[in-house]
Amino acid sequence: MLQINSIEIENQANGCITDEKCPVISFSLDSDIPDTTLVSVKLQLGQWVKTTNKQLGIEYDGSELQSFSEYCVSITAIDNHDEQAFGKTSFQTGRMDLPWDACWITDMNSTHKKGESPIPMTFRKGFVIDRKVKKAYITSSAIGIYDLYLNGQLLNTDYFSPGFTSYKKTLQYNYYDVTSLLGSCNEMVAVVGAGWAVGRFTYNSKTHITADRQALLLELFIEYSDGEKEKIITDGSWAVTQQGNYRFGDFYDGETYDATIDLDEIEWKAASSISLGFEPNLSVRYGCPVTAHERLYPQKIFKAQNNMEWIYDFGQNFAGVVSLKIVGHKNQNITIRHAEMLFAGNLSVNSLRTAKASNTYICKEGVQIYSPRLTYMGFRYIGITGIEPENIEVTTFAIYSDVQEIGFFECSNPLVNQIQSNIKWGGKSNFVDIPTDCPQRDERQGWTGDISVFASTACFNFDLNRFLGKWLTDVRLEQSRSGGIPFVVPRHGNVNPVVPTACWGDSCILVPWALYLSQGETTLLKKQYPTIKRYLKAVKWWAELLSFSRDSRRIWRLLFQFGDWCAPGTGIKDWMRKGKWVATAYFANSCAIAARIANILGETHDQLYFENLCHEICAAYSNIFTDKKGKLKIEFQTAYVLPLYFQMVNGSERANMAGNLAKLVAENDWHLSTGFTGTPYLLFALADNGFVKDAYRLLLQDTCPSWIYEIKAGATTFWEQWDAISPDQIPTDASEPAESDSEISFNHYAYGAVGDFLYRRVAGIEPTSGGYKSFTIAPVVGGGLSWAKATHISPYGEIAASWNHADEVFTLNIKVPVSTSCRVVLPSGAEHLVGSGEYTFSENMQLAAFCR
Ligand code: BGC
Repeated sequence: MLQINSIEIENQANGCITDEKCPVISFSLDSDIPDTTLVSVKLQLGQWVKTTNKQLGIEYDGSELQSFSEYCVSITAIDNHDEQAFGKTSFQTGRMDLPWDACWITDMNSTHKKGESPIPMTFRKGFVIDRKVKKAYITSSAIGIYDLYLNGQLLNTDYFSPGFTSYKKTLQYNYYDVTSLLGSCNEMVAVVGAGWAVGRFTYNSKTHITADRQALLLELFIEYSDGEKEKIITDGSWAVTQQGNYRFGDFYDGETYDATIDLDEIEWKAASSISLGFEPNLSVRYGCPVTAHERLYPQKIFKAQNNMEWIYDFGQNFAGVVSLKIVGHKNQNITIRHAEMLFAGNLSVNSLRTAKASNTYICKEGVQIYSPRLTYMGFRYIGITGIEPENIEVTTFAIYSDVQEIGFFECSNPLVNQIQSNIKWGGKSNFVDIPTDCPQRDERQGWTGDISVFASTACFNFDLNRFLGKWLTDVRLEQSRSGGIPFVVPRHGNVNPVVPTACWGDSCILVPWALYLSQGETTLLKKQYPTIKRYLKAVKWWAELLSFSRDSRRIWRLLFQFGDWCAPGTGIKDWMRKGKWVATAYFANSCAIAARIANILGETHDQLYFENLCHEICAAYSNIFTDKKGKLKIEFQTAYVLPLYFQMVNGSERANMAGNLAKLVAENDWHLSTGFTGTPYLLFALADNGFVKDAYRLLLQDTCPSWIYEIKAGATTFWEQWDAISPDQIPTDASEPAESDSEISFNHYAYGAVGDFLYRRVAGIEPTSGGYKSFTIAPVVGGGLSWAKATHISPYGEIAASWNHADEVFTLNIKVPVSTSCRVVLPSGAEHLVGSGEYTFSENMQLAAFCR
């Protein structure tokens, strides 16, 4: 029987509220009949009827949607066995283009001290209702981050609304249905903290980046049962104070909360309406809310070596907040410090740089519960002073954007499984409304290079359609006129010039491409395409500047390059000196992807243009950097990895390059020497070119630098640099995790990009077209693994691959979703092409070894 498995509007399964004029509809199907594929589907929304054979990203293109309206979408699908399935869902529109009557309000007396985050503002407004309410809803936003209460109830389940965007250009607002919460006497209270917009941000300790002070914007719409309508809006009738419970709050330094303060006993004044001085486009939230996820409990509680505090170890490095149940006395001060590591039995805070990462709670009398709202921290340990463990229950919540986990990998080697766990925690810790570099120190910025290299792995593990879709809106908005992409997006306080830079700038291509392969939406590619073209035009311009020969015009040297960023054993100068190899290879790869995108969008002329440009760059790389036979004039691993993985060389040149790479790896005693830009592709460059054993040897290497070295040192997320803890700091007793006072982050996801290899080679699942419409399952067996399995929930449904070998027999079980096709390649090289369904394949391992 054919069934509709899920329906998404704007990539959201339930409760979508959107201001999109042409929202996109996607759905997946299930069937118990093998080899099922959609033949046609009829979608209906009011008068709008569309018949298509697509399942993903179907754009509504009917008559104009009205604001604050509910729409029902019904779907009738017919498959190739003449089976029919029916499903429906609904969504709601936001304000659409409805202008705001409300004013932005603030506390004009709030002082604007450079370098200091402002005190949180609390706003309030009381009002009376004397009739029956039919419907009531709020739309609201803030400059800063805010929590909104109605009659004492917190309306938002998320943290840090309205989220982090390029504020001067675009700002999200929230929608809350409050029909059931209104009584006769009502009070709205909003706490607006400094957040990204006004609080301390960037490693240069900037404050007030978007505005001098926080502000609130709100409209409450009330429809009475008698047909009358009323609107309560932010204006001078609201009261404001900076003497509320939240005494301080920013992302780096933490929060101070005074529970003794009674809002009815403090001084309030009239809020002032202000003009922001800029006019962002206000849209109902189109990203994912940041919410509380896993609850983590202390694994160990002990007194710090210096006797200063109680240390709680949660056993996992992550981003989140504490949640405390306290038996306290009025005015008792409790301080909670956060750290990723211990050093000499005390909290090690060097990796936080200038971030104080500390919360202070001032108790009222009795039992009380506290969890910060205006900050989050990256940590594994906390240190508590001001209370003894018997009077406090401590747990924590992991806080990250509400991205669904869609990828699962496991194999027979527990250390490799820990790699997968570190990768997922690295992602979760750094998906806090935007993709950040790290969650703990005075950065937490949207560094573009980090997500460039992690995007593919991230999209295997998480559904990032809305999360990265939102961030890519900022990438488009922040592209400079001359084509550059800022090093961090939102650029927010970053002063570096916006010029194209390899890998970091290539995020405008690599990220949407990874997302497209994972989710299959051409709408995103269409939106992103002009940015891609402008970026590549700029790269070409910089490559050609001051270059005269045909080849040298295709080598990208200028202007600034991060190069082989964070490569082990050397320093920043050396990483950057590798810039021209890295930049030229990334240029070629981006042109190749741009050609594929042009092809998908039907831009044939552009496709040819990018293909030719790519060929010229590949030729220049060979002619200038190598002996044209596959040997680099100046050899280093990344300079072999990139042309191999990016398919820049063929035939004997390719074979020689792979051999030379394997030689370099062996000479380095089977250790990698790659930084951010080469590491994601290193194992592929080996395994795909006949060096499977070498690839596995690197994956399973356990001395520095390697993934398992970090794991054996106790890492629960991957480090910013391979040697953040040097081998001589690792205790000889393997059961003791390393202690460190390193300044380097212990939670950067870039090296977690190895997850792609686990998924695409070890388990063998790889998309060959957008959204896994077609894909391969071709496990690469090795490394002594006796089994491996992965599942991935593609937009068409669940894909599974699970293999094992026992008694010389290799067995592979797979699952293929409706409307997709899968090419299966067994270790012997034998191929099968299958449609949807569940299948088992097996073959003799000796035969497989012989055939390979
Ligand atoms: C960040 C990186 C980033 C790099 C580039 C660092 O401070 O943490 O991950 O990509 O700067 O300069």
